[in-house]
Formats: sequence, structure tokens, C-alpha cells
Amino acid sequence: MRKILVTGALGQIGVELVPELRERHGADNVIASGWRRRDVGAVVDGGPFEIVDCTKPGDIAAVVETYEIGTIYHMPAFLSVLGEEKPEVAWALNLGGYANALEVARRHDCSVFFPSSIGAFGPGTPLQNTPQDTVQRPNTIYGVSKVAGELLGDYYHTRFGLDTRGLRLPGLISHVALPGGGTTDYAVHIFYEALREGRFTCFLRSDSRLDMMYMPDAVAAILDLMDADPSRLRHRNAFNVTAMSFTPEELAAEIRKHVPGFEIDYEVDPLKQAIADSWPDSMDDSAAREEWDWQPRYDLAAMTAEMIGTLRRKQGEGALGREHDITGA
Ligand code: SER
Repeated sequence: MRKILVTGALGQIGVELVPELRERHGADNVIASGWRRRDVGAVVDGGPFEIVDCTKPGDIAAVVETYEIGTIYHMPAFLSVLGEEKPEVAWALNLGGYANALEVARRHDCSVFFPSSIGAFGPGTPLQNTPQDTVQRPNTIYGVSKVAGELLGDYYHTRFGLDTRGLRLPGLISHVALPGGGTTDYAVHIFYEALREGRFTCFLRSDSRLDMMYMPDAVAAILDLMDADPSRLRHRNAFNVTAMSFTPEELAAEIRKHVPGFEIDYEVDPLKQAIADSWPDSMDDSAAREEWDWQPRYDLAAMTAEMIGTLRRKQGEGALGREHDITGA
């Protein structure tokens, strides 16, 4: 078997994707990489780990050649809010890094996974039941880099026959790594504050509806898409996928079922609110369901119950808040 490379393995998705890949394919067959080494247990210690700065094509090529890589999961990205603080870095990493990975993949005939996002939509996009194929004119550098990445992936497929596949992921909720500078981060931080303080101040308006997904579903979606029969794929870059759609008020009400008396108030951040307002309320993911049988397992109630249960356990062990903070990872 040709081996698997995960770039950006220390990010919010990578820290959960790598252990799952190692479980399925064997630890030595999955090479995790990040631009620097950080202490994140399983990812760094559980199998091979290499320093790879994706903005340097030579870094990716060296690892692909050394380990005879056949598949690249290309995960590094500056998220939407961080991107607005440093647009030039976000572009160089999100698009430049991906262009480097694709070029190395072309030379070595590797399959490539690319995570696009709800951020690939923007003004002009229908926000309810957002179609698979529709207007994509985002006004964040994050969104611009994601649309460009989708197009570049399709280009490498149609022009060179490269096996490129991607997902438009919604806001991701998880308890292993904290998210790093996105518009949907509130939906993670709210759980920690609910358990620590019993209250949370939200940077989005109470009625800001966005698509969301629990991390185990996101990891399953990534792996299922990469396993999908290519003859069934009419789309490649990138499939709408969603699991739930809620507002901060609705999430707070669900958390209150587990944390009685939990309170939420609002201090709206205009930049983050404008980004949220330009993103879908609920995506149509029927193409993913039809072409590779996408089916999420967690809805709002199931995700909330599991998040609270897991974080309460950590709290009991004195480990709450020791999650890997990936800001700038
Ligand atoms: N979670 C990302 C963000 O908020 C969206 O893909 O930027």
C-alpha cells in the first residue's frame, strides 16, 4: 500500500483524522505533518511525524518521496476571522499551500483531499437550502481561497486526471482541539463556558442560523468520500455536507437541558456577524447523499449530549481547558 500524508495534522480536524486513519491503515502507514512540532500526544507520538511547511513545495515533495505517499489529506488553513487579520498569510497558506500540494501530487500521482467550507459561499448565494451548484462570490479571503481551491482541484482532475475530492464542511464542533479563529468558534467555546461559568457571551446575534457538524461525522464524511466509487462522482470539488443547522439561542436551549440555569448574552462583533450573515443557513447536501451515500449520525441533541458528557468527564479529571489550542498551529 502507498502511504498516506496528512498535512496540517495538528489542526482542529487533523488531530481527530490522523488517529482514525492510523486505526484503519496502520500507524506506520499514516504520516502526520505540521509546520512545527507541538505536544499533541496521539498525532505526534502515535506514528511518523514530519515538519512540513506547505508554503514550501520542497517540504511536501521530500515527504512524499521519502515515504512513497499515495494519498494526501491537505488540511492546513487560516480560518475566516484570522484570515481577515492577515489576508496575505491566509492566501499564501490556504491557496498557495494547496497549489504546492497539487503539483507534488501530479508528479507522484497521489489522490488528494481538500476541505472547502460554507465560507466558499457569500453575497448572492441563496442562503436557505443552498444548492450544490450556485453563486459563489464570498467576500472574505478565507472564502476566496476556498473557492479558488475548489476550482484548482477540479482543474487538476479534468486536465491531468488527478483524483481530487473535497467537501464544503460547515462549522465543526469538537472537544479534542479548540478551533483557531473562525466565525463558527462560538459553538465550541459555549460548551466550555457552560461547564466552567454557567454562562456565555456570544459574538453572534441570537438568531444567526448556520450549518454545523460534530467532528466524528466530519471525519467519517472525509473518509467515506475518499473511499467512494469514482464512477458515481459527478461532483468532486466540493460536496455540500451538513448535519444540523441552529442559532446560538437554539444551541443555548439545548445546553440548558444538561446545565440547568445556563445563561447566554450577546456582544455582537460586527466583522464576525457580517461573515455569518453571508453564509448559508442550511445547505442542500443531496448530491453527497446521492453520489456517495452521505448520512450524518449526530443531530443537535445527540451532539450536545455527547459534548457535555465528554467535557464533564474531563472536568472531573481536572483536564478541562487543557485542549490543544491550535490558533496559529
Ligand atoms: N469554521 C470555519 C470558520 O468559521 C468555517 O469553515 O471560519
